[in-house]
Amino acid sequence: MRLLALFVAASAVVAETLVGIPTFNFNATTSAKFSLSQVKSILVDERFQHSVDLDGETLIPPTLLAFAQTFASDLLELGLPKLSVQEADAARAGSIFLTISNDTVFLDAAGRKTSEGYTLTVEEQGVVITGASPLGAFWGTRTLIQQAKLGDLELPIGSGSDSPGWKTRGVMLDAGRHYYPPEFLIEICAYLSFFKQNTFHLHLSDNLFNNVDIYSRERSLDLYAAFRLNSDDPAVAGLVRPYRFNESYTRDTFDNIQSSCAARGVTIIPELEAPGHALVISQWKPELGLDDLSLLNISFPETIPTMETIWRTFLPWFQAKTVHIGADEYDSSLADDYILFVNTMSAFIRSTSGKSIRIWGTNEPSNTSVVSHNITIQDQVLELIGEGYEVLNSDDGFYIVNKFSGSYPQQLNITRIFEGNPVGGAWAPNIFDTNNATNNPPRNDPRVVGEIAALWNDYGPNASTVHEAYYAWRDGLPALADKQWGGVLTRPEYDSIFDALHSIIPGQNLDRAIASKTDVILRYDFATVHGETVIDSSGNGYDGTCIGCSINNGVITLSSPSSRLTTPLTSKGRNYTLSFSINPSSKSPIGSTILSGADSTLVLGNGTLSSLALISGNQAYALNYTLPRDVWTDVALIGRGNATFLRAGSGDEMQFLTVLGINGDSFEWEPIAIEAPLAQIGGDGFMGSFAKFELLGTA
Ligand SMILES: *[C@@H]1O[C@H](CO)[C@@H](O)[C@H](O)[C@H]1NC(C)=O
Ligand SMILES: *[C@@H]1O[C@H](CO)[C@@H](O)[C@H](O)[C@H]1NC(C)=O
Ligand SMILES: *[C@@H]1O[C@H](CO)[C@@H](O)[C@H](O)[C@H]1NC(C)=O
Ligand SMILES: *[C@@H]1O[C@H](CO)[C@@H](O)[C@H](O)[C@H]1NC(C)=O
Ligand SMILES: *[C@@H]1O[C@H](CO)[C@@H](O)[C@H](O)[C@H]1NC(C)=O
Ligand SMILES: *[C@@H]1O[C@H](CO)[C@@H](O)[C@H](O)[C@H]1NC(C)=O
Ligand SMILES: *[C@@H]1O[C@H](CO)[C@@H](O)[C@H](O)[C@H]1NC(C)=O
Ligand SMILES: *[C@@H]1O[C@H](CO)[C@@H](O)[C@H](O)[C@H]1NC(C)=O
Ligand SMILES: *[C@@H]1O[C@H](CO)[C@@H](O)[C@H](O)[C@H]1NC(C)=O
Ligand SMILES: *[C@@H]1O[C@H](CO)[C@@H](O)[C@H](O)[C@H]1NC(C)=O
Ligand SMILES: *[C@@H]1O[C@H](CO)[C@@H](O)[C@H](O)[C@H]1NC(C)=O
Ligand SMILES: *[C@@H]1O[C@H](CO)[C@@H](O)[C@H](O)[C@H]1NC(C)=O
Repeated sequence: MRLLALFVAASAVVAETLVGIPTFNFNATTSAKFSLSQVKSILVDERFQHSVDLDGETLIPPTLLAFAQTFASDLLELGLPKLSVQEADAARAGSIFLTISNDTVFLDAAGRKTSEGYTLTVEEQGVVITGASPLGAFWGTRTLIQQAKLGDLELPIGSGSDSPGWKTRGVMLDAGRHYYPPEFLIEICAYLSFFKQNTFHLHLSDNLFNNVDIYSRERSLDLYAAFRLNSDDPAVAGLVRPYRFNESYTRDTFDNIQSSCAARGVTIIPELEAPGHALVISQWKPELGLDDLSLLNISFPETIPTMETIWRTFLPWFQAKTVHIGADEYDSSLADDYILFVNTMSAFIRSTSGKSIRIWGTNEPSNTSVVSHNITIQDQVLELIGEGYEVLNSDDGFYIVNKFSGSYPQQLNITRIFEGNPVGGAWAPNIFDTNNATNNPPRNDPRVVGEIAALWNDYGPNASTVHEAYYAWRDGLPALADKQWGGVLTRPEYDSIFDALHSIIPGQNLDRAIASKTDVILRYDFATVHGETVIDSSGNGYDGTCIGCSINNGVITLSSPSSRLTTPLTSKGRNYTLSFSINPSSKSPIGSTILSGADSTLVLGNGTLSSLALISGNQAYALNYTLPRDVWTDVALIGRGNATFLRAGSGDEMQFLTVLGINGDSFEWEPIAIEAPLAQIGGDGFMGSFAKFELLGTA
């Protein structure tokens, strides 16, 4: 770097790659810096404040003004004061000016124009971000936030231009075999967006593996299968069973997910899966299934019309130009039926809504028919490129099966991201095979549209908590985002900046981190009483409120079923130790709640058994341990890495485990990582006393 700097000093321009996620190419013009503390306002070019990017997948693109407002609130993460957003006709001193221009033409890896490019120019008086579109400008604001964080709020003076190599960058989440609350999906969008990923593919229907060698037809009809969109249109009445209404998305909910994600530049691509993985449809209409009810009988006259009815109902919900119809793992002996299905649905969806479709690359072997060439195939097969398809790389090297698998990993493989090119160097979306370069198209192949890393929930809802899906991606996904964009980050650089950037990702707190002055996050000594206020002696001021309880000599007593202590906290993620003394009254019902929070509940029992249990995402994870009544026990609930433990008295730590059913023929015991429930003590029937309530940020 020093040599390079000397060499170009004559032109007074120092070309460098700024470390960030993704990296950013920059020409520094002086060694001076611009401090963000000089910024007094965000200015939006009045000519373009209502402009939107029409080139992306989203049908609800935010305006430049809307992105500017998001940017202004995101700057709070840097500890800056809230800046006002104003319209202006030009940049001014002490401002960050957001505008749009076509003066610079931004090209992707295949040499095509992209609207996602931007130029970031830092002058002594202010900053100008010029997007090829509002989305491009928004990506520029991500770069600014990252560089400001890494530069202690100072930016180098000069200018850099940047654009993505590939237009589709992101992840797929299997929300069919596991329910995810809408807030979680929105937080994942925020995570993606900070690293300039623009696509969140939601797999919205699926079922556990229908093991026809073992299961009776009755058992198949009862096997876990879900369709997550709940419409009140009579045409699809019964598709979502009433007991799953609370684990599906209404139109309002789905609208909110889509618009919240779009606000950060992320498009939701919905997938409704058929004709394989379609048990939920044959549970609704059993006559549509083959002998294996998870496969639809395409030659049955009502099957395609039923799928058209489903799509006709839901197409108006979808705010993307592309939808995904699934189409994987069908019966290869029925290849012609499969291809007929795919082409018919493609034509139907196009004529009904104007949308394009994607399918998984099942590549069924027909001698007489082919999948239409205007369908994008999500796969990693070079031959498909040769046959003229657009291919969205869903490299199975980045497939994750949550929690357990005989063949796939449980986290993104960071080594593979940085070393996955078989000819040397990092992986990129054109790398279909990390071992054999013969199987990879060139980097500039226009038929490679990007990459989607997929996370599957093969073993269903109890295999993992909601947040374990995030942890499968947490440490590796930003690195993958750098490669999806076309960045040149190295592993040592990544490791050196990850924590700093991770700590400021706006719009989410997936770690369920809690700000704290020391390792003691919360401590209730119950020493003094101030009306209903319970003092937090940690120094963080997380005072609680006691309702219907009494405090005496370091003990708080909940004496009626509705007595409760509420805290200003909700939940604490990895790592934590939550300790307290507890004396549950024998009057407490067997299933009463000790502690509850945003992501979990600790209960005395599950209603029929008195085993102490943590509940998360409707699943109960019980210990083989019953808390004794009417005596004091010291308890510590411990979240350590991907596992959760409880210690009672001087006993050994007991581990909360989940039991996975593996395709109906075996079981697998695995750890489960559950957030600490912190919002409320008691309030749901529990009666008894607590003392020495303390939360530490270590385990
Ligand atoms: C950029 O070019 C496109 C067409 O190429 C045009 O529609 C658009 O208005 C231009 N934008 C600006 C800011 O000049
Ligand atoms: C840096 O300056 C050189 C020479 O003017 C130019 O070719 C290059 O595109 C610039 N790089 C960026 C990222 O703006
Ligand atoms: C599929 O539907 C066709 C047409 O109705 C029927 O002849 C065939 O028996 C069905 N297949 C199965 C396995 O039910
Ligand atoms: C493929 O695209 C063309 C227009 O680009 C359209 O006319 C045709 O119907 C499409 N075919 C299918 C199967 O969607
Ligand atoms: C395609 O042709 C091959 C060779 O003739 C044959 O073995 C195979 O069964 C055929 N496949 C289908 C789906 O008809
Ligand atoms: C849990 O963490 C342990 C130790 O850090 C690791 O070996 C294991 O692979 C992790 N398990 C999962 C399912 O992530
Ligand atoms: C991660 O990827 C590297 C490089 O492809 C490979 O050698 C290694 O075995 C992988 N690790 C795991 C745990 O799969
Ligand atoms: C690489 O892939 C090509 C094409 O699939 C194949 O012919 C060749 O044998 C492979 N090489 C190795 C070393 O596996
Ligand atoms: C409590 O757990 C046991 C064992 O898992 C189960 O059989 C029982 O149905 C559960 N009771 C309730 C109310 O969930
Ligand atoms: C949804 O309802 C079912 C049945 O009433 C219940 O078991 C489950 O806990 C509920 N899920 C949520 C997310 O409230
Ligand atoms: C639970 O603990 C009891 C007593 O310690 C023991 O007898 C029993 O076998 C345990 N049950 C399981 C399922 O581990
Ligand atoms: C939690 O602790 C584990 C070691 O048990 C460590 O590997 C991990 O990075 C910690 N997680 C967080 C989010 O601090």
